[in-house]
Amino acid sequence: MAREWVNPLRDPRDKRLPRIAGPSGLVIFGVTGDLSRKKLMPAIYDLANRGLLPPGFALVGFARRDWADEDFMKVVHDAVKQHARTPFREAVWDRLAEGLRFVQGTFDDDNAFDNLAKVLEDLDRERGTGGNHAFYLSIPPNAFPVVCKQLARAGLSAPQPNQWRRVVIEKPFGHDLKSARELNEIVNDVFPEESVFRIDHYLGKETVQNILALRFANQLWEPIWNANYVDHVQITMAEDIGLGGRAGYYDGIGAARDVIQNHLLQLLALTAMEEPISFRPKALRAEKIKILEATRPVEPFASTTARGQYTGGWQGAQKVPGLLEEEGFAKDSITETYAAITLAVDTRRWAGVPFYLRTGKRLGRRVTEIAVVFKRAPHLPFDDTATEELGQNALVVRVQPDEGVTMRFGSKVPGNAMDIRDVSMDFSYGHAFTESSPEAYERLLLDLLLGEPSLFPNSEEVELSWQILEPVLDHWEKHGRPEPYPAGTWGPESADEMLARTGRHWRRP
Ligand code: BG6
Repeated sequence: MAREWVNPLRDPRDKRLPRIAGPSGLVIFGVTGDLSRKKLMPAIYDLANRGLLPPGFALVGFARRDWADEDFMKVVHDAVKQHARTPFREAVWDRLAEGLRFVQGTFDDDNAFDNLAKVLEDLDRERGTGGNHAFYLSIPPNAFPVVCKQLARAGLSAPQPNQWRRVVIEKPFGHDLKSARELNEIVNDVFPEESVFRIDHYLGKETVQNILALRFANQLWEPIWNANYVDHVQITMAEDIGLGGRAGYYDGIGAARDVIQNHLLQLLALTAMEEPISFRPKALRAEKIKILEATRPVEPFASTTARGQYTGGWQGAQKVPGLLEEEGFAKDSITETYAAITLAVDTRRWAGVPFYLRTGKRLGRRVTEIAVVFKRAPHLPFDDTATEELGQNALVVRVQPDEGVTMRFGSKVPGNAMDIRDVSMDFSYGHAFTESSPEAYERLLLDLLLGEPSLFPNSEEVELSWQILEPVLDHWEKHGRPEPYPAGTWGPESADEMLARTGRHWRRP
């Protein structure tokens, strides 16, 4: 019997070789939006530049604008030139540009979707996309039902044998548990769950995937990664930018729905979960789901949570307006731009260890990090004065912008006296590796085309995350306005008080 020929350059057992997406195309709805221009188009180009897209790849834009293919091409070209990570190469661009198409229409226009079906059929023939198409819904969630229905009506959601169809949805995945469930039902009515890819771009970040390497490739941390040694965990996502230009999306949503429900709870899940039996999607998700099921907000919320809204102030040398002066926000908006919550993870590993999550806009600086803060040594055989300035040991995963890992511990200050102070041992991506990290969207778009769902939260994760957050949101809704904090500071005073009550304090990264 003839043995199947295995191309040694494509041996699927050799995981060092990058996997290249098979014949396929991507359709973007909401292609005129910011996300598409700043992230999606550049990521597609970067993938093409790295040789990870199939030669006949097609990118189709769908929007209301009265554009011809050439106008769309120019928009993609400019977006790539402005935002791509890798250098611009004429030959790569020319090949990519041959596969660009634009379909003009509104979401309720049957003809536009019939036209889209025709364009995709032509691409299958001309470019060899093989009937494999992903639909990226970079549109407000209230447009999901109509677009999903249209895709089904035009015969675009159900693939023929040996073809695939996938749908990508961007957050917000609902506004609360109820709407998230409804949204999942609407999408699952048309696309089976295994064809639904929900984007949480934090999971595409190298430093976030490194949490798995750090925890499960090393022997060093596991013995101390539990309630016996860990005092608490702080997960911080601080941003210095304000919300100018984003009122349409953000007003009425707020910081907790915008990033705690998704990014920060995913970071918590990766930090707290047990070792998965493999990194296959099912095994990884099973562990994340178990930990989210065990997570609950700690009460009473009046003292375990904090929320704030930025007022005018100084960001470095720049004077910036408060939220209520930003264009498009209601003058009496009670949308929070800062949120901090306390969570408990009810497992043997984490019993009694608080997880503090905080995020805010217009804070002192942009930084995302996970700090695992350890208990103090049970006994200090020094004079009291020697350890006056000694803090708690900590392991800090620096997600961004200064990607790396820091270990903090006490060390003797040089000199005759025994004086102990905190020092840091740093690993920095920039120093340790010559390769630059791919953008999160590069990784996630490639995984989408490969049909690799590990880095995409499934419906259960999304619903569990809402379940965790909802009691806090309900409490806030009943209790008036968020507390003002000046731009450029580290948030409202109540956030500091929230930790001070337990004898702890926030890190000042
Ligand atoms: C998005 C939020 O998901 O993440 C934004 O909607 C936030 O409000 C952004 O600014 C931050 O992303 P990054 O990758 O810059 O940390």
